[in-house]
Amino acid sequence: MFSDKTILIGITGAIAAYKTCELIRLLKKHNANVKIVVTPNALNFVTKTTLETLSQNPINIEQFDIKNFKPEHIALTDESDIFIIAPISANTISKISHGICDNLLTSTFCAYKKPIIIAPCMNTNMWENPAIIQNLEVLKNRGIKIIEPDSGFLACDTQGKGRLADINIIFESAKELLLPSQILKNKKLVITAGGTKENIDPVRYIGNYSSGKMGIALADSAYKLGADVVLISTFEVSKPYKVIVTSDTENMYNSVKNEFKNANSLIMAAAVSDFKVKYKSEQKLKKNGSTITLELIENPDILFEMSKIKTNNQIVVGFCAESQNLLENAKTKILKKGCDYLCANDISNKEIGFSSDENEVYIINKNLEIQKINKDKKTIVAMKILERIYGRS
Ligand code: CTP
Repeated sequence: MFSDKTILIGITGAIAAYKTCELIRLLKKHNANVKIVVTPNALNFVTKTTLETLSQNPINIEQFDIKNFKPEHIALTDESDIFIIAPISANTISKISHGICDNLLTSTFCAYKKPIIIAPCMNTNMWENPAIIQNLEVLKNRGIKIIEPDSGFLACDTQGKGRLADINIIFESAKELLLPSQILKNKKLVITAGGTKENIDPVRYIGNYSSGKMGIALADSAYKLGADVVLISTFEVSKPYKVIVTSDTENMYNSVKNEFKNANSLIMAAAVSDFKVKYKSEQKLKKNGSTITLELIENPDILFEMSKIKTNNQIVVGFCAESQNLLENAKTKILKKGCDYLCANDISNKEIGFSSDENEVYIINKNLEIQKINKDKKTIVAMKILERIYGRS
């Protein structure tokens, strides 16, 4: 889940520091890179060895322990995606709300511009102290996410509010801030990628230049948005969602038909061969000094067939690569294919499309309305396509 994220955990001198060990384990279990910064007092409650073993990273304590000629508090802000201070003591709350930078943790807070979560833990009387209430209000108004403590039995042998919130709640808040909203949760999306290969004989095929990058970017993005993804690809890829490897068009057609039955949507990003060889040779063709003629016949048009059988609740999206008159051809194509959306890109532009890491797409709907997605990395364009078609903007 967090494989591309670095999470900075801050720990201050409060008894619940031992619970942070479980939070670190949970984040590691979800593949986060965990870095830790502690106040010197935190080490009265949890040891350096424990934290380093759990996070598999050296912990950061000293403000002037400069590595790589970069002040440590700046390095920590640059290297991480979110800062979670749990537990945060009354003392540290008061310091950070006033911009005090007297140790590595408070200095890091002061320089931090990405999302921050704080989870306080203290005695009930301290929690109710007007100074603490006011300081927390200041932090809240500055956009810091505060996870309030729970009520219950406290370490100081009293009952009341002040226990560190459940670590699962802290984990869920981090997830909310770090991952895109789950607009495709409970939706099954079938996505095709790559170029189909039509065999001529056991060693030769007719293929195309599709790299599959756009289809895979769409599948990865749909997975991040919570979808139950089935990627039907013409090459092997290892992914945390279901991947079906197909080769020729007939094969891809059968897999798509099968998976689309109970799906919410199909995205045909694959470059599908329009033709196949009529008579495939069982044996390798030998040269004999004369010409060989291959007779080609049409393949099924998967997009057209699926658009024909789709229900009103299913969304079918096609792609089209054009080398001239992009929008005119795309408009004609969406009407011919009968799909709900067509994403058109201009393959005459060498900077985008096929093997490139970038793309620029026009999304056309059935009413022939057009939205442009500006040139960007395919991963970003993919996310924008999904958001425009299935959701938010
Ligand atoms: N497609 C398909 N089955 C085919 C050919 C294409 O499902 N046999 C899908 C592609 O996956 C893509 C869309 O149709 O989503 C448009 O592909 P494109 O090659 O641009 O369209 P064609 O129908 O092949 O039209 P053209 O005559 O322009 O090649």
